Amino acid sequence: MSKIYCKRCKEAVENHPACSVLCASRAREDRAPINKPIVWVLGGPGSGKGTQCDKIIAKYGFTHLSSGDLLRAEVKSGSERGKSLTAIMERGELVPNELVLDLLRDAIEAKIAESNGFLIDGYPREKSQGEAFEKTIAPATVIIYFEATGETLTKRLLGRAVSSGRADDNEETIKLRLKTFFNNNEVVLAQYPDKLKRIDAERSVDDIFAEVVSILDAIVKA
Ligand code: AP5
Repeated sequence: MSKIYCKRCKEAVENHPACSVLCASRAREDRAPINKPIVWVLGGPGSGKGTQCDKIIAKYGFTHLSSGDLLRAEVKSGSERGKSLTAIMERGELVPNELVLDLLRDAIEAKIAESNGFLIDGYPREKSQGEAFEKTIAPATVIIYFEATGETLTKRLLGRAVSSGRADDNEETIKLRLKTFFNNNEVVLAQYPDKLKRIDAERSVDDIFAEVVSILDAIVKA
């Protein structure tokens, strides 16, 4: 059965005549439930989220939605919204959640019919992001967290900087990205003790993937 959401503040409003939750708007939208596995893929910058997601897509045919990639696409589009993002991302800070959540929701809805499941890469990065996603999109099925030290993350990102062309792959911004990540990470993870799978990401790509497979096989076969 579909659920009803307030079009303005995105809260579920059930059968109230107006959105009594936040904004009193009368604009509604119906949304079909998302009945596919949703995997949040978390870890510090350079922990290997993108690398592992590529392997997951190849094996499971999941749809990969990286919050960073969606934001970079918005910047590249030259839109007014994109222009305001560039400076935030170059400071290694988090962009406003409303925007990230809108991009994710649109991308999920566009692929829902054809997808085997969704990899949500790099989201949530704050406690409130996780809460907003589960309230307005769907609960996460499982959360995979790639754990690595700041030293390892820095080394990998500096290695990637040689060829990535990313504006935030430079020594100064990497420091800021790590700071933002470590400031928020444990609070985010603490919200989901039952869904969280921690993986030691200091090992080889293939060893890490073997552990990912054992987690995802259980979901796909369930
Ligand atoms: P985003 O694009 O998500 O970047 P990130 O989190 O900093 O992560 P990366 O994409 O840099 O690294 P990765 O973990 O995917 O590692 P990779 O596989 O490439 O976010 C960018 C910015 O967007 C944020 O700073 C923020 O401003 C904004 N943003 C994004 N999401 C947001 C949100 N939810 N809310 C608000 N703002 C948001 O690997 C890195 C390197 O290591 C590669 O060279 C790879 O070959 C190598 N490597 C990978 N695995 C291994 C291994 N096991 N051993 C050795 N090397 C390895």
